[in-house]
Amino acid sequence: MIRLLTIESTCDETAAAVVDDELNVLSSVVASQSHLHDRYGGVVPEIASRAHVERIMPVIEQAMTQAGISLADLDAIAVANHPGLAGSLLVGLIAAKTLSFAHNIPLIAIDHLQAHIYACQIDSGRNVFPCVGLIVSGGHSNLYRCETALDFTPLGSTIDDAAGEAFDKVASMLGLGYPGGPAIQKAAEQGDPQKFKLPRPLVDNPERLDFSFSGLKTAVRYELYGPGKINPGARVDLNPQRVADMAASFQEAVVDCLIAKADLALEKTRYNRLCVGGGVAANSHFRKRLEADAARVGYELFIPPLKLCTDNAVMGAIAIERYQTGLFEDLSLDISPGLVR
Ligand code: KG4
Ligand code: ZN
Repeated sequence: MIRLLTIESTCDETAAAVVDDELNVLSSVVASQSHLHDRYGGVVPEIASRAHVERIMPVIEQAMTQAGISLADLDAIAVANHPGLAGSLLVGLIAAKTLSFAHNIPLIAIDHLQAHIYACQIDSGRNVFPCVGLIVSGGHSNLYRCETALDFTPLGSTIDDAAGEAFDKVASMLGLGYPGGPAIQKAAEQGDPQKFKLPRPLVDNPERLDFSFSGLKTAVRYELYGPGKINPGARVDLNPQRVADMAASFQEAVVDCLIAKADLALEKTRYNRLCVGGGVAANSHFRKRLEADAARVGYELFIPPLKLCTDNAVMGAIAIERYQTGLFEDLSLDISPGLVR
């Protein structure tokens, strides 16, 4: 039996888990920081890295205690070193390297985006590859051709804002707070998705597998404030029904864009499996629409439960694949914050 400690600190969750080579989860700990960032309407990198420093060792200790094993029982320590916020990534990497060096435990790198898709394999207990991977989170809206767990080719991505970022910014305009995704989902339940006519950027372009959410966000702003510069003193009509209608109309537009490009990617790759990951995949309306789309088009949909969609360390079990192919790192392992390595 191979057992790994996995560490995740790419953005604003400090997480650690212990998993084995049969993808059993022996423990999983996630310390969220969202209450530290909510007043700023988004993740503040400096606050995130400082909070990781405070939490990383207690989170790792808790994961080891829950698993009921000691460091000496581990076969490897794996850490997400790409992509993410530089300061946040460094905290996880230094913790992993220190434990690896001090206890002489092999070190493995985790690609955070590959890990989001691998959550589908962990959840389903089945081989999900090859598949189209769609990652929609606060930092990413990416489509991949995923030939194997470790072999991804980018097909498209956002040319401006990520989907989650758009949810967060529109929620802030609607006075709904942070994180915006769950707040918009809730408000949208009482709203009419056809009330406001919002754009679906790039949807009609069959050549591109990219997304663009910034124009959609601006369209929401114009509906609320009128075109042009926002006057800080302007009074905006944010009565609850108008907020609900806007939340529902915006959510519908984002979901239309995501599903249109996922369908196009499936068509272009001729794959018949779609794996979805990232915080926005927790959206209940998106999940329902995806299920209906999968039934209509005839592909197999893999979408993990909510706690495996948002950032967590369990998905770091992808490191088992690296372990089995002998892909180990030495202490020169560095972070790689950007999408392109
Ligand atoms: O994957 P994640 O936890 O962190 C990274 O960005 O890597 O994703 C966080 C994003 C936030 O933008 C949040 O608003 C969005 O996921 N989100 C949602 C929902 N829950 C979280 N967006 C829409 N609907 C949701 N239910
Ligand atoms: Zn993520």
